[in-house]
Amino acid sequence: MPTRILGIESSCDETAAAVVADGREILSSIVASQIDIHRQYGGVVPELASREHLRQIVPVVREALSKANLTFQDIDAIGVTQGPGLVGALLVGITYAKTLAQTLNKPLVPVNHLEGHVHAVFLEAHKAGKWPELPAVCLIVSGGHTVLYEVTQDPTQPTFAYKRISQTRDDAAGEAYDKVAKLLALGYPGGPILDRLAAAAPVGTPAPVRFAPTKTRSNPLDFSFSGIKTAVLYHLREHCEYGSEILARQEALKRGERKFEQLLPLCSPQTLALVREFQNSVVRDLVDRTMLAAQQFNAASVLVSGGVAANSQLRTTFEQRGQSAGIATYFPSRALSTDNAAMIAAAAYPQFQAHHLAGPTLNANPNLKLA
Ligand code: KG4
Ligand code: ZN
Repeated sequence: MPTRILGIESSCDETAAAVVADGREILSSIVASQIDIHRQYGGVVPELASREHLRQIVPVVREALSKANLTFQDIDAIGVTQGPGLVGALLVGITYAKTLAQTLNKPLVPVNHLEGHVHAVFLEAHKAGKWPELPAVCLIVSGGHTVLYEVTQDPTQPTFAYKRISQTRDDAAGEAYDKVAKLLALGYPGGPILDRLAAAAPVGTPAPVRFAPTKTRSNPLDFSFSGIKTAVLYHLREHCEYGSEILARQEALKRGERKFEQLLPLCSPQTLALVREFQNSVVRDLVDRTMLAAQQFNAASVLVSGGVAANSQLRTTFEQRGQSAGIATYFPSRALSTDNAAMIAAAAYPQFQAHHLAGPTLNANPNLKLA
């Protein structure tokens, strides 16, 4: 009989529940996104996030069980995100999971959200009948994180071991996407639309500004993305020709016209070339540092996870660079790249096997570290 774990995730703006068998097979995965609520503020509003998690948690968990054709009694353990994340948001999932575990008399497994992102890659690889070879270097790149880990495993242990190689000094890459999209009046979240607009930039239009790679002196593998956001801000301030199209897009967004097809005609070739240069620069930075780390750590594979891992140019660039370096690269599907609970249930499985369980005193840890 497989071990079926119910995963619960509420660390940011997605209320999610999933059932995963033996840490590998997704029986159900439900994600209730709050994007429509936070969009009007251009970012996640913590207080609203907690309130929405409260509203969604019970129906989302019920749906996850019913999609898996299971009852609460059929579950072997409950895995819940302990951190990092927004404290009020985390507490909703944790309080619900603790109550459920106590009422049903089931084991409760605390999960680090970042370890969830690592397991998202393994879940996906398993679907394709593969298993990334270790040691691996894993880039977790989202709206809240940009961090590189070395992932290893002692064959006598069910759990992975992690070493933090580097991280961002300031903004996360996804945050830079969201902020630049806000400056350009391209809606929220910024990643998906900038990704598509960058690809639509006319080939012959030169970049109106060049962004030099950032130097992070004390650890050359560290990332930094606040400089590029500020460079975009200054460029826009210095060039008044962007003003009228920004106003036109602000009006379109107010009318609810935020789709790629609706915003593309409101972008000049110069704006599209600016977006392409921004994306080139972010992708180059992420890929260069990750591949350098892979070499330094003799990694057999490179894993990329988190919301920004959905970026098409990031994927193709990693694949090309991985091929020429002879290192296998792995990404989760787009659905598993962004926050979900299947990755939490998958990460809970080896912890459950290692008896790393929590009791009724489990608390949220908004700054929980993986290593
Ligand atoms: O992992 P995630 O769902 O939530 C956390 O931040 O933990 O990631 C969301 C982030 C947002 O900043 C969003 O703009 C970015 O991922 N994102 C993308 C793409 N899709 C989502 N960034 C670049 N390209 C994309 N295609
Ligand atoms: Zn995340």
